[in-house]
Amino acid sequence: MKRHLLSAADLSYDDAILVLDTAEELAQVSERTIKKLPTLRGRTVVNLFFEDSTRTRTSFELAAKRLSADVITFSAKGSSVSKGETLKDTALTLEAMGSDAVVVRHSWSGAPANLARWIRGSVVNAGDGTHEHPTQALLDAYTMRRRLGRLEGLRVTIVGDILHSRVARSNVLLLSTLGADVTLVAPPTLLPVGVGSWPAQVSYDLDAVLPKSDVVMMLRVQRERMGPTGEQAAAYFPSAREYSRRYGLDVRRVATLADEAIVMHPGPMVRGMEIAPEVADGVRSTIVEQVANGVSVRMAVLYLLLGGSDSAIGSPS
Ligand code: NCD
Repeated sequence: MKRHLLSAADLSYDDAILVLDTAEELAQVSERTIKKLPTLRGRTVVNLFFEDSTRTRTSFELAAKRLSADVITFSAKGSSVSKGETLKDTALTLEAMGSDAVVVRHSWSGAPANLARWIRGSVVNAGDGTHEHPTQALLDAYTMRRRLGRLEGLRVTIVGDILHSRVARSNVLLLSTLGADVTLVAPPTLLPVGVGSWPAQVSYDLDAVLPKSDVVMMLRVQRERMGPTGEQAAAYFPSAREYSRRYGLDVRRVATLADEAIVMHPGPMVRGMEIAPEVADGVRSTIVEQVANGVSVRMAVLYLLLGGSDSAIGSPS
């Protein structure tokens, strides 16, 4: 049976723990001089990126290569997509070349779910519009568990542009599966309609929430999703300065955190807006670790989806 990872909701508690434990084992490979396992030799992984990406794209590429898969990385720019080819035709073309898995990032929320209906191989969602980014949530959970030793009962505060954030959506779903307590902090204009039904608390007061947090995850304000050139940003928040004053994580605010608390950010950061440079580079920051952990977690996901074991994760179709 084929398997996909389209949403963090595809993962049961056992699935999620299996990914984290597998990533823990695979992380050892990245510490060797020869960073390669033969596990996916002869398999082909296609990275299909229709939206900009630095970390996610390179990390999936490295993950597949460390498992010895053949990897094709395809960016929409410079391809026939700019000539008007549809996602479906692009996918069928790549499948005709024998891909076993397609890792897809697309501005269309739902693109990966549709791909999963059109092609035979496994589909991994690497970010679809404002919908989901399940491997980011997995690498975040992995980072929290590594740093703090547990996920159950962990108080996680996610701050910023929740409305446009697929990272926030996937994190809320996965963290609630894993037993963490999530609080979302944002201006009312940057919270989605229906957030009341999410398995998370909502607050507008960052200063009140910080001392009660084990993890603070800062999010970028996604101007590219606020009109074609971000020109509608003013409808969401008065100014970058005002946003920073109310929702930015600076040195003064960090000083109110508990001793062990950590600061996370999925990247890309806008230093000086949602996070002060001193905080991004400070001892509590896990931002660079998150990137390294991303490779191990994506190796685990590809391994579990394509490795052919009975304990495969994800949703069947
Ligand atoms: C995020 C994304 O693309 O959703 N970044 C990432 O994958 N590391 C968040 C963002 O773009 O702000």
